[in-house]
Amino acid sequence: MSALLEFDRVNVHYGHFHALRDVSYTIDSGEIVCLLGGNASGKSTTMKTILGLVHPSSGEVRIDGEATTGLSTAQIIRRGVASVPEARRVFPDMTIEENLLVGAYTVRGRSVLRADLEQQYELFPRLAERRRQLAGTMSGGEQQMLAFGRALMSHPRLICMDEPTMGLAPIVVDQVLETITRINRELGVAVFMVEQNAELALSIAHRGYVLATGEVRLAGPAHELLHDERIREAYLGQRDEAAVEAAIEGTEGQR
Ligand SMILES: Nc1ncnc2c1ncn2[C@@H]1O[C@H](COP(=O)(O)OP(=O)(O)OP(=O)(O)O)[C@@H](O)[C@H]1O
Ligand SMILES: [Mg+2]
Repeated sequence: MSALLEFDRVNVHYGHFHALRDVSYTIDSGEIVCLLGGNASGKSTTMKTILGLVHPSSGEVRIDGEATTGLSTAQIIRRGVASVPEARRVFPDMTIEENLLVGAYTVRGRSVLRADLEQQYELFPRLAERRRQLAGTMSGGEQQMLAFGRALMSHPRLICMDEPTMGLAPIVVDQVLETITRINRELGVAVFMVEQNAELALSIAHRGYVLATGEVRLAGPAHELLHDERIREAYLGQRDEAAVEAAIEGTEGQR
């Protein structure tokens, strides 16, 4: 059986700049796969390539074994892929409900639409309470929930997420990761997520890939990557910061 999503030796160029180099990934139904890598390693380029916003100069992206070459973003979404873009990007001057409805453009029929809205409100009760509130006035964590809800409105089998926890407070980060796990377990939706925080991402993912300057350098089960010395080295800076933070919190807790 073909993978849900496949990159087969994909190259992407921005003019002369070679942003993805012979990149291959596979995401199977029901998986959570994280994409790790430092700044400018090609993570967002990967996500944009999936959605047909950026086109490979060679190689192929396939959904269910069929190449997406030449398809529009709308056609790719109809094949079951939804996206939670970088920095969430909800429509700030539209209400929560209007934002959700934007995500539903592949859905036909009022009753289906109503049922889909109710599903999101059940999954994210905060959105239900605030359905008439303008999205731009919600907190970062609430906007992230809205971005998830909006993505789910198109009945995806795979959601691609570009740094869903970026800029959120640690407690909200935990809520977002828990929500991603629920979306995966309860709705059976596969998740391909970009994350800067390797440890957090690997704690909820089944598998991971590590990109560096446009190339896949490491790939494997999340628990193996989590204990891989090379990952620990690569993310030493972040780990130190976390250690300092934990130490500070620890001493404050003792007071
Ligand atoms: N439209 C573009 N034109 C030219 N170069 C681009 C374009 N988009 C991205 N790049 C370059 O491609 C490289 C990869 O960018 P990309 O956004 O994929 O990185 P990233 O891994 O998502 O980084 P970050 O962690 O900072 O979000 C960078 O060097 C970037 O400057
Ligand atoms: Mg990026």
